[in-house]
Amino acid sequence: MKKIVTTFYCQYCSAQYAKWQGKCTACGKWNTIIEEVASPQQLTAMPWSMENLAPMTTPNKPKLVQDIAYQADHRIPCPDKEFNRVLGGGIVPGSLVLIGGEPGIGKSTLLLQIALTLPLERILYVSGEESEAQIKMRAMRMSCPSENCYVLNETSLQNIFKQIGQLKPSLVIIDSIQTIRTQHIGSTAGSIAQVRDCTASLLRYAKDTSTPVFLIGHITKEGSLAGPKVLEHMVDTVLQFEGDRHLMYRIVRAIKNRFGATAELGIYEMHHGGLREVANPSELLISQREQDLSGMAIGASLEGNRSLLIELQALVSPATYGTAQRSTTGFDTKRLNMLLAVLEKRVGLRLGTQDVFLNIAGGLSVEDPALDLAVCVALASSLQDRVVSRRYCFAAEVGLGGEIRGVSRIEQRISEAEKLGFEVIFISQHNQQKLSGKDAQKGIDVRPVTKVDELLNILFR
Ligand code: TYD
Ligand code: MG
Repeated sequence: MKKIVTTFYCQYCSAQYAKWQGKCTACGKWNTIIEEVASPQQLTAMPWSMENLAPMTTPNKPKLVQDIAYQADHRIPCPDKEFNRVLGGGIVPGSLVLIGGEPGIGKSTLLLQIALTLPLERILYVSGEESEAQIKMRAMRMSCPSENCYVLNETSLQNIFKQIGQLKPSLVIIDSIQTIRTQHIGSTAGSIAQVRDCTASLLRYAKDTSTPVFLIGHITKEGSLAGPKVLEHMVDTVLQFEGDRHLMYRIVRAIKNRFGATAELGIYEMHHGGLREVANPSELLISQREQDLSGMAIGASLEGNRSLLIELQALVSPATYGTAQRSTTGFDTKRLNMLLAVLEKRVGLRLGTQDVFLNIAGGLSVEDPALDLAVCVALASSLQDRVVSRRYCFAAEVGLGGEIRGVSRIEQRISEAEKLGFEVIFISQHNQQKLSGKDAQKGIDVRPVTKVDELLNILFR
């Protein structure tokens, strides 16, 4: 009888051990090591190349950079503009794209919608999670007429490759990588060895046939992509699908992209007929309120190449229990604490005994330091219960000395604010000096400021 070979894998970093131990010495995580059965043929040829697909290419030779053939427009454009944007301008042939996100956020919906609308010859949507009838039901909800999208309900990698060999699709979607298993490894679907091997085979298939492959990946309870970290290294692009399940808005963010800029965002709205692109997100991020309220300020932020005007909502109220609370949604709590300290020390606002809550409207999470000034204004406005005009917006970083610092691409922020009808934008003196040589903005009053206390004096005189 064949001896069963087992290996111990860290489920976080995929380090291998001969026996079990409590802590992974490679990544330092506790309780992540799990025994997996590995049969000896694990390291044989990739399963897909055994099928009737293209044989392995001849060995490559070194080439001069200038001799390498390259076509600039070698991308498949999606009808979905937001998806195009996060991918860096369309789908690259032969790319392997991983899309991660929490359960129920809409990963399957997004990819099925793309499969149904892409004008490619044949698209194969492989689902290991849902039945054909469920997928049909979803497709009917989205009401996208399509004549070229095939659905395959299968979890065996070998069978999938058999079907791929016959169908020769121009795009393959795998929903999800954690449900697919190869017969070469004994362990269950979703384990490290399975996920890694199936991804490696799909990667080989994508590169050798120049077919783009999209993988859906699950997310662990800590919020990182399930499966080994190597999965993220193997693929060309990692997209993260985020947003609150209870809010309508969904954001697709590129975390890694070999073919474009990361930091790009795609914004969608989930409605009863699938995901809808949001063309003008600023309008949705600024709440439509009837009257002016204290604690609200609008910041001009940049996400990738897109400028967004974001409403920051602060609530400062006396702490009822011993220690004051600081709580944020969509903003870094450490950064908030720093700004609170600056306001306390440099401006003299008494915030130590106050509970502070800070929200970004619309469920977006932003890290742009250019929002600092708007955060300070929102906090001061709430503390003093003084309203900031909603025709004002802010774009500057705040330093530890209470000084107002310049931010990148200020022209773009100003023109977005102008386009949305803001009357005044406060920026740093430093940015203003660089701007002065260029054409002055006509529709908006650009006011330079140097210190936070100076700005608060102007606003709440
Ligand atoms: P789903 O795409 O199945 O999520 P995932 O694959 O990431 O787990 O999630 C779909 C969710 O979106 C589900 O809760 C129902 C909702 N939904 C709509 O609101 N409208 C629609 O048209 C569709 C298809 C789904
Ligand atoms: Mg799904």
